[in-house]
Amino acid sequence: MALAAALLFLLMLLHVLVVAPASARRRPPVARPGCRDSCGNITVSYPFGIGAGCYRNDGQQGFQLECHDSGLFPPRLTVSGFDHHLADLSLASGEARAYLNATRECFSSTGGLVDRTNSYMSLQYSVYRFSDAKNRLVALGCPNLGYFVDGDGYYVSGCMSVCRPSRYAMPGPCTGVGCCQSEIPADISFFGPYLRNFPPSKDSTAFTTNATSCHYVFLVEDEWFTYTDRVFLNRTDDFAVPLVLDWAVRNIDNCSAAGQNATDFACRSVGSQCVDATNGPGYRCSCPKGYDGNPYLDRGCADIDECHLKDEYPCYGVCTNTPGSHTCQCPPGTSGGATAKNGCRPKDNFSLALKTVVGVGVGVFMSVFMCFWLYLGFQKRKLIKAKQNFFEHNGGVILQQQMRSHRGAAEGGASGFKIFSEQELVKATNNFAADQVLGRGGHGIVYKGVLEDKTVVAIKKSKMMEESDIKEFAREMLILSQINHRNVVKLLGCCLDIEVPMLVYEYVSNGTLYHFLHGKELNTDTTLDTRLRIAAESAEALAYMHSSASPPILHGDVKTANILLDNNLTAKVSDFGASKLAPSDEVQIATLVQGTCGYLDPEYLMTCQLTDKSDVYSFGVVLLELLTGKKAICFSGPEDRSLVSRFVAATKAGTHEKLLDGQVRKEMGPEALEEVTHIVTRCVSVSGEERPAMKEVAERLEALRRYQRRPWGQAGGNDSEEGQSLFGRDMERGVEYMFGPQDVLDLEGGSTYTLSL
Ligand SMILES: *[C@@H]1O[C@H](CO)[C@@H](O)[C@H](O)[C@H]1NC(C)=O
Ligand SMILES: *[C@@H]1O[C@H](CO)[C@@H](O)[C@H](O)[C@H]1NC(C)=O
Ligand SMILES: *[C@@H]1O[C@H](CO)[C@@H](O)[C@H](O)[C@H]1NC(C)=O
Ligand SMILES: *[C@@H]1O[C@H](CO)[C@@H](O)[C@H](O)[C@H]1NC(C)=O
Ligand SMILES: *[C@@H]1O[C@H](CO)[C@@H](O)[C@H](O)[C@H]1NC(C)=O
Ligand SMILES: *[C@@H]1O[C@H](CO)[C@@H](O)[C@H](O)[C@H]1NC(C)=O
Repeated sequence: MALAAALLFLLMLLHVLVVAPASARRRPPVARPGCRDSCGNITVSYPFGIGAGCYRNDGQQGFQLECHDSGLFPPRLTVSGFDHHLADLSLASGEARAYLNATRECFSSTGGLVDRTNSYMSLQYSVYRFSDAKNRLVALGCPNLGYFVDGDGYYVSGCMSVCRPSRYAMPGPCTGVGCCQSEIPADISFFGPYLRNFPPSKDSTAFTTNATSCHYVFLVEDEWFTYTDRVFLNRTDDFAVPLVLDWAVRNIDNCSAAGQNATDFACRSVGSQCVDATNGPGYRCSCPKGYDGNPYLDRGCADIDECHLKDEYPCYGVCTNTPGSHTCQCPPGTSGGATAKNGCRPKDNFSLALKTVVGVGVGVFMSVFMCFWLYLGFQKRKLIKAKQNFFEHNGGVILQQQMRSHRGAAEGGASGFKIFSEQELVKATNNFAADQVLGRGGHGIVYKGVLEDKTVVAIKKSKMMEESDIKEFAREMLILSQINHRNVVKLLGCCLDIEVPMLVYEYVSNGTLYHFLHGKELNTDTTLDTRLRIAAESAEALAYMHSSASPPILHGDVKTANILLDNNLTAKVSDFGASKLAPSDEVQIATLVQGTCGYLDPEYLMTCQLTDKSDVYSFGVVLLELLTGKKAICFSGPEDRSLVSRFVAATKAGTHEKLLDGQVRKEMGPEALEEVTHIVTRCVSVSGEERPAMKEVAERLEALRRYQRRPWGQAGGNDSEEGQSLFGRDMERGVEYMFGPQDVLDLEGGSTYTLSL
């Protein structure tokens, strides 16, 4: 008990430690201790500073500023050593705004130079560069060539402004008539402006008056200068224009180089990030996400209290600030999106009650957990033992043994098959959330899941198994895991350390064939060729499974709902061996029959003996469904009958063509119809012996498909010999398929199966 009390105390202490800094927020400093942090209304943040020891001194000029506030209002902030006037400084954007007078040349009406001023700006060997993104060079007046040179006197950028007669003069943007502009390159630290005047032409009157006229050139902030009303044209005076400077720590080229010398590194605050400068060499620092302040000072970055910034981080629920972030939740008893106005809606009483129950449950659980913790060692051993029990119970040991022995025999044959732990699958399916359910069947529930490596899978939770089936189950798993056929849904693994074993399959994206045929959405690709291909692929998969192992792997529940389609409409048969996992006692068989009524082999109903021919029968129904587009049991027509009995009756009456889907009827010629009728009829024979093997069905479907695709294989195709021989009909010639009443188990009204209800 003393131990528990000590633990509780520790928890409380931890709580206090975690919560305290969040509630007592400090305002981070912007300047070094004892230094001025403003000049007028401009904030001066370190690495900038006024006075000795207040700025970053790394050999580059520019961080040292001077504030002239005696007799001046507002006070004037200048860069020490350059005397440039600064109006704005920003740590976050790495920009500063300076003011510089425009360079001017004025002429009398006769064209003589009357007056000139020249304002250059040198920022060489400083932390500043002219922003290439936000500034441009502008020349006003005409005709006028305005340009500027760098510190070595070389031309950098310029433009030519021309004149037009005033009646043709174009008002509006600065595009070359009376005003021109040009972009500037990056990494420029010297601005030496020049004007080149030209003798006035007769056209120049458009922009001159009889009074003095002036030409200007200046570097200016993009957003500030708009030349729409030609307000500048009449000017003859001096005026100052703003321009944007990019600053950075420039004594070292980049972050990776700066990181080498910890004493010199400018990013001081814990967690602050270094960003390479984009204009010129050097780097800048920024506070981590969710923090703001000054990253250039120790402990300069502080958590943003998002809960007090309702405009930027709207929260209409309960807002809790956390280091670097915040949470916004709906008040107790409501749910929804707390970040939207009226986003929280009251929960209904049931879930409120549920919540209370869960709350109490969690409370109880927590107390239990304390005890549990004390006895952890003991409990853990017990838990492992329980898992081990389930594992053994579910045939895991047998499976592992078999996998091992198999791998020994055939070099990693079972590789790719994995035994998953319960936790992995709980995580993958978000604890088997209801919105992850892909489908429910007679054998269990299928969930969609995403594994840790981002693979999307389908996870099947089976129903309970009989003891006697366990060995069989493990064997089945092993065989299925070896199957690698493009038309069979791949089994990726299973999970055995729980009461109910789970199977993990590859995820097939485009739904089931059932949905494809009978779903609400219109399918564009329902051509005969697609239908035949799906049929042939499914038949091939079944044939492969029937022949790949001995005794054969039977499907036991072939139906359109068990044939999946991927993005290319490639068929993938799923749920192999499902019957093995199905309950085998009489009562539950009845339930099972109900689920797949219309597909069930009549012989199986009588003998309860599942054979490969049972799959053939069911496949016959699938084929029929593909051709007719009707459901295996259709309750919508005038006569409620199974598709098979309708088809057989129609064949007898010679009207089976009418049953076909319109599209199929259009594309299929008489020989093809005869062939496909022949295949279906044999597949759905009452006697299993009369049904063809799955392999033959697959081959015949493939041949039919080739026949349909041959260039002359249009509807009503001719009777050419090639067409005939493709079916290998000569082998069957003379064999008439007649139906006696004894041949077909009539599922009239579907009521034969009411035993299932
Ligand atoms: C500082 O004040 C001047 C007017 O005195 C104003 O024009 C300017 O926008 C202000 N600057 C800032 C950064 O608030
Ligand atoms: C300019 O001066 C000339 C003669 O000096 C005169 O004819 C003309 O009308 C004047 N133009 C304007 C726009 O004042
Ligand atoms: C420019 O000056 C002329 C004559 O002095 C005047 O008519 C015109 O309104 C002025 N334009 C602007 C935009 O100030
Ligand atoms: C810059 O222009 C202002 C007027 O806006 C003027 O008072 C000042 O003397 C000019 N400075 C220089 C250096 O020409
Ligand atoms: C960083 O600067 C150093 C030294 O100037 C240089 O050698 C290195 O290539 C630069 N690294 C990057 C990523 O630009
Ligand atoms: C690191 O920076 C400091 C301060 O700028 C300098 O004195 C020192 O020489 C530098 N060390 C190295 C290894 O570059």
